[in-house]
Amino acid sequence: MEAPAEPAVAAAAAAEGGDDDGRGRKGSWYAVGERAVLVPYLREHVPRYHEWMQDPALLEATASEPLSLAQEFEVHRSWTLDPLKHTFIVLDKELIEGDFVVGNPHTEAMIGDVNIYMNDPDDLELAEIEIMIAEQKSRGKGLGQEVTLMMMSFAVEKYGIHTFRAKISDSNTASLKLFRKLGFKDASHSAVFKEVTLEAPAAELPLSSPLTIGSW
Ligand SMILES: CC(C)(COP(=O)(O)OP(=O)(O)OC[C@H]1O[C@@H](n2cnc3c(N)ncnc32)[C@H](O)[C@@H]1OP(=O)(O)O)[C@@H](O)C(=O)NCCC(=O)NCCS
Repeated sequence: MEAPAEPAVAAAAAAEGGDDDGRGRKGSWYAVGERAVLVPYLREHVPRYHEWMQDPALLEATASEPLSLAQEFEVHRSWTLDPLKHTFIVLDKELIEGDFVVGNPHTEAMIGDVNIYMNDPDDLELAEIEIMIAEQKSRGKGLGQEVTLMMMSFAVEKYGIHTFRAKISDSNTASLKLFRKLGFKDASHSAVFKEVTLEAPAAELPLSSPLTIGSW
């Protein structure tokens, strides 16, 4: 396994060079799992992503606000530039037309996204994780669990993350069950936001290692 990068080094590398469409800045990777492939969030993915985020149930589950398509492109751009955020689009292998090809966004197979955000200024090795399997037809097949584990393996290998955090609405039974099943423990509850914060040390998670990662 590659040595985990120091956060400062990773952030500096992330801020270097490259373009702003997700292909050069921060480094761009893909990862291959058993049933899912993670690919960088590219401009080609934005229209479908935007369609997903018109669904009131998904907006509520992810605590998001509806955006215009132009705003979604702007959010995509800002995520791409932010050295503390890393987003993958999830492809369902069963939906990929032909073979998976590095460099092809495979929009036909996109079913959700998974991201980490190193948003604690006192600890850049702590990452908040979010997962969304937006397509109903791909739910309940183990993809959410697989890609959550893949994202965390990636975060440990590339950014040296030691602790993961998830903030989940009280009413989101599916997501709470998923994270608790993986070993996350309740850390706090906000009555105001009606949300549970769960945490897990990376060392205690059933991470797949080494993960099959390649350069995009
Ligand atoms: C939560 C979510 C990611 C689950 O994805 P998924 O691919 O359907 O989940 P999996 O098939 O991998 O299931 C893994 C575990 O999650 C839990 N789970 C998933 N769907 C569930 C449901 N409908 N009811 C109860 N538990 C559920 C179970 O513990 C399941 O393990 P099990 O099958 O051994 O019981 C998906 O429903 C989703 O994206 N929802 C909307 C967005 C969201 O809520 N994101 C979370 C914000 S962090």
